[in-house]
Amino acid sequence: MRRRSVALLLLVAATYLPVSIATDTIDLTASIAGNQTLLSARGAFRLGFFSPPGSPAGRTYIGIWYARIPVQTVVWVANRQNPVVQSPGVLKLSPDGRLVIVDGQNTTVWSSSAPTGDVTTKATAQLLDSGNLVVSSDGSGSSQSVAWQSFDYPTDTQLPGMKVGVDHRSGFAWNMTSWSSPADPSPGQYTVKLITGGLPEFFLFRGPAKIFTTGPWNGVVLTGVPELKTEAYTFVLVSNPNETYSTYYISSPSLLTRLVVEGSTGLLQRYVWADGAWNNFWYHPTDPCDSYARCGPFGFAYCDTAHSPECSCLPGFQPRSRKWSFRDGSGGCIRKTKLSCGDGDGFWPVNNMKLPEATNATVHADMTLDECRQLCLANCSCRAYSAANISGGVNRGCVIWATDLLNMRQYPAVVQDLYIRLAQSDVDALNVSAGKA
Ligand SMILES: *[C@@H]1O[C@H](CO)[C@@H](O)[C@H](O)[C@H]1NC(C)=O
Ligand SMILES: *[C@@H]1O[C@H](CO)[C@@H](O)[C@H](O)[C@H]1NC(C)=O
Ligand SMILES: *[C@@H]1O[C@H](CO)[C@@H](O)[C@H](O)[C@H]1NC(C)=O
Ligand SMILES: *[C@@H]1O[C@H](CO)[C@@H](O)[C@H](O)[C@H]1NC(C)=O
Ligand SMILES: *[C@@H]1O[C@H](CO)[C@@H](O)[C@H](O)[C@H]1NC(C)=O
Ligand SMILES: *[C@@H]1O[C@H](CO)[C@@H](O)[C@H](O)[C@H]1NC(C)=O
Ligand SMILES: *[C@@H]1O[C@H](CO)[C@@H](O)[C@H](O)[C@H]1NC(C)=O
Ligand SMILES: *[C@@H]1O[C@H](CO)[C@@H](O)[C@H](O)[C@H]1NC(C)=O
Repeated sequence: MRRRSVALLLLVAATYLPVSIATDTIDLTASIAGNQTLLSARGAFRLGFFSPPGSPAGRTYIGIWYARIPVQTVVWVANRQNPVVQSPGVLKLSPDGRLVIVDGQNTTVWSSSAPTGDVTTKATAQLLDSGNLVVSSDGSGSSQSVAWQSFDYPTDTQLPGMKVGVDHRSGFAWNMTSWSSPADPSPGQYTVKLITGGLPEFFLFRGPAKIFTTGPWNGVVLTGVPELKTEAYTFVLVSNPNETYSTYYISSPSLLTRLVVEGSTGLLQRYVWADGAWNNFWYHPTDPCDSYARCGPFGFAYCDTAHSPECSCLPGFQPRSRKWSFRDGSGGCIRKTKLSCGDGDGFWPVNNMKLPEATNATVHADMTLDECRQLCLANCSCRAYSAANISGGVNRGCVIWATDLLNMRQYPAVVQDLYIRLAQSDVDALNVSAGKA
């Protein structure tokens, strides 16, 4: 059985056997046509024309896929909306520094966006072992000479070293968008993007609808992705005035891993290549508690193996509707006692929470937690506060929610304290019952 599957894999491999032109680079005089490919220097990735299985006969796309595994796994597509129909297609680098795909009748079907800066006659396009296709303005390959790179235009996959996020200077976003179907790489309905308002947070959309968020970044974790900390790779979130993005690095170059937003399932999935197959490392939404804002304003979800998904109200709140149930908690919760908006208010800490959606929250990076509390108390719209950054176990900065608190879930493990504003009488009542417990 084992032997037979190996034979089968070799057969699959043979059908993809491309004609490599024994290089990783094209210049202004070279091109990739028909079944020719580029192979990165150490043989990790290949670039060429491909046809997704099941796509209409004769359609081809320029893609990048892993060169060493028998299952053709495409990680990037150039002309995802503009297949070559009249073969053979040709990929070339034009003198203005754009990559261009022409069809068999020499009609341009796709070209890359304009390069940044001027390019010389020595310009090249090189496929790197990271899977990045880089146009170098002078052919040197130096980082200063990068005029365009495929890593800036993700398809549905984030490879190690690729960014997903926002360039604040240009407004440019590195988003991931699913394929329409396994046979059609054109943009599908699922998109992953970063929204930076308040604390940075990644959203999975189906069309315009939010279906999952990773939870806000607190300097250590995305508070809704508990499996983020692992030995296999290092997750990094970079946030400075120029740009905010996530990326990740692998500890061993032989480890193949990719993060994909899948068109058929609508899941954000991390795969790891092991024992001859792509293994699903984790995915989101994982369970019903991951559904966006499942329990409505001021409600939170709790899921574990012993419990069905359950909605609860934050302490000091009660269900808005008597029809509240774990099946439909979307009406959310209302406070038991009105706020006085003055000395009559206090705070109650809750722990182990995926922080509320922080898109409209306000961050004060240099405040202490005590100043944060004062600021919240002084602003009648403030509903909750928390530390903005808990790196190293130290509370730094301040985040203030002056909105309904949405999209929380509780975890068995400690995440971080969120301080909920309540009428002092409710705080005292909670304190008394906590003291008795
Ligand atoms: C590549 O294309 C050439 C010309 O169309 C053809 O002769 C050759 O058989 C092809 N090779 C493979 C491996 O498909
Ligand atoms: C293809 O078109 C380009 C620009 O229109 C032209 O310079 C080139 O000669 C054409 N090539 C062929 C093979 O017709
Ligand atoms: C990413 O999302 C933003 C905001 O919706 C949108 O303006 C932009 O076109 C998207 N970028 C890409 C590369 O899809
Ligand atoms: C969080 O605080 C640490 C320690 O000061 C700092 O290195 C890191 O850049 C901060 N992260 C964010 C997102 O501000
Ligand atoms: C932001 O970009 C400017 C140039 O655009 C650069 O000089 C500066 O070093 C960058 N700052 C950071 C924190 O990357
Ligand atoms: C954030 O503010 C915008 C604009 O006021 C509003 O449309 C949106 O619903 C708010 N989002 C949340 C989660 O409160
Ligand atoms: C209250 O806080 C919100 C969010 O930080 C802010 O938009 C609003 O201006 C504040 N109101 C006052 C009176 O400071
Ligand atoms: C609860 O009561 C104790 C004892 O009076 C007090 O020290 C503590 O600050 C109270 N906690 C809260 C959250 O009010």
